[in-house]
Amino acid sequence: MKVSTSTSSLDTLDVDGVAIGVFDDLSLSGYTEDLTKYIEAANFKGKSGDIKILYTIDGFKAPKVALVGMGDKSKSTIETARVAAGKSTKALRKDGAKRVAIPSFGNAQGAAEGALLGLYRFDELKTMNPESRPDLEELIFSGSEEEFGDWEKGQTIAHAQNFARRLGELPSNIATPTFFVEETKKQFEGVANVNIEVYDEEWAKSQKMGAFLSVAKGSHEPAKFMVINYQGGKEGDKPYAIVGKGITFDSGGISLKPSGGMGAMRGDCSGAAATIGAVLGIAKLKLPINAVGITPLTENMPGGGATKPADVVFASNGKSIEVDNTDAEGRMILSDGLVYTEKTFEPHTIVDIATLTGAMNIALGEHYMGAFTRSDELWEQLEASGKRTNENFWRMPLDDRYKKQLKSSLADLKNVGGRPAGSITAAMFLSEFVEMERWVHLDIAGSAWPSSEGPYVPKGNAGVPVRALIDLAESFAK
Ligand code: BES
Ligand code: MN
Ligand code: ZN
Repeated sequence: MKVSTSTSSLDTLDVDGVAIGVFDDLSLSGYTEDLTKYIEAANFKGKSGDIKILYTIDGFKAPKVALVGMGDKSKSTIETARVAAGKSTKALRKDGAKRVAIPSFGNAQGAAEGALLGLYRFDELKTMNPESRPDLEELIFSGSEEEFGDWEKGQTIAHAQNFARRLGELPSNIATPTFFVEETKKQFEGVANVNIEVYDEEWAKSQKMGAFLSVAKGSHEPAKFMVINYQGGKEGDKPYAIVGKGITFDSGGISLKPSGGMGAMRGDCSGAAATIGAVLGIAKLKLPINAVGITPLTENMPGGGATKPADVVFASNGKSIEVDNTDAEGRMILSDGLVYTEKTFEPHTIVDIATLTGAMNIALGEHYMGAFTRSDELWEQLEASGKRTNENFWRMPLDDRYKKQLKSSLADLKNVGGRPAGSITAAMFLSEFVEMERWVHLDIAGSAWPSSEGPYVPKGNAGVPVRALIDLAESFAK
């Protein structure tokens, strides 16, 4: 699909369909003439989420005019634009339109995000009946030149998030650690000030990453440790570091998961996918900061060489870990990822992202991601980014009283803490591998795969929280 911009008004554009926003007082967004008679004839009330396509009406070159409800005008935000753009472009596509034009709906960045995130569909593995899922040929933004920069920005953010969605959605026989690395390199081709380093298991051995390697041991698929370094700030400026869990398939290992629904564990790399997407967005937006994305990538498999319950391994900070349950593998690979990140890059902030615990889904479901941090300041910054991007976080406790659940009779600690507070004990485990205060752990296990389609969220992997992580970078740039 081609994406372009135009200063021509919606009514004059020679396209198949245009969208117009209607507030609940029936005033319009994107069009200046009076459409009251059509709106009233269609019994359209402008409630948020309402959608109605009118055909061949006076004053429009386009045969399809989609009215999309925007609710209360005084409460309109960037989210209103995302929803209106997502709803209307999808409705016009479904109605057979090939070339579609939309206005800013009050926020050009939001309109671009909503349209491009909404139109995203994961169908690259389907070879039959493409006519049953027609695509748009062109999406045109109709607005003023002052808005084109914001539109462009929204496009960049949506593209970064769609890339994360794709990496999270692809099955594990295709999206191996090696594939992750290759696709990432392709995406970053031509993006300035980025350096990508890819390390193998030999290197991990030299770094004494016994926890990361203990997970990789059960799989034939070579593990990778990828570092994406973006230098948009001054040399020597401390970076913003993002560390993402990259389990390309989580079978549970020897502590094998039940087979029902196990295919969903192809998405256990969603943290790594979001990390890569976020750094891609930050670099393409040329934010004046330094940022680094770190992704330990491996399968968790029960092969002949696999780690067994009660095995003891040593992480790269020297701590010994009793592997009580091989299905608690995310915290194992992140522990070495976090140690490496803090000592190598001395970042001002570390955010780690992981589909870490099923318990997170039990606690918060899909609408909030759990955020664990000791820093009130970082929490406030993150919460604000979550609200602006509609990728919301809920603060969870990091409290030393939970530590005793991780006591081991064999080693310094064990990798599971029993059923109570499963997400918190996982976070406490990670805290054993970070010294600095400005660290936040995000458990996205509940939100990575929302149960139903939203106005601009497709079925399948949501690519969260790419928008919030980019927004957080912008707040650091200010
Ligand atoms: N990847 C899973 C967590 C998960 C489960 C994410 C369901 C999304 C949906 C993680 O590696 C895992 O298996 N966690 C275990 C931890 C347990 C062994 C302490 C879990 O949540 O059951
Ligand atoms: Mn697991
Ligand atoms: Zn996992």
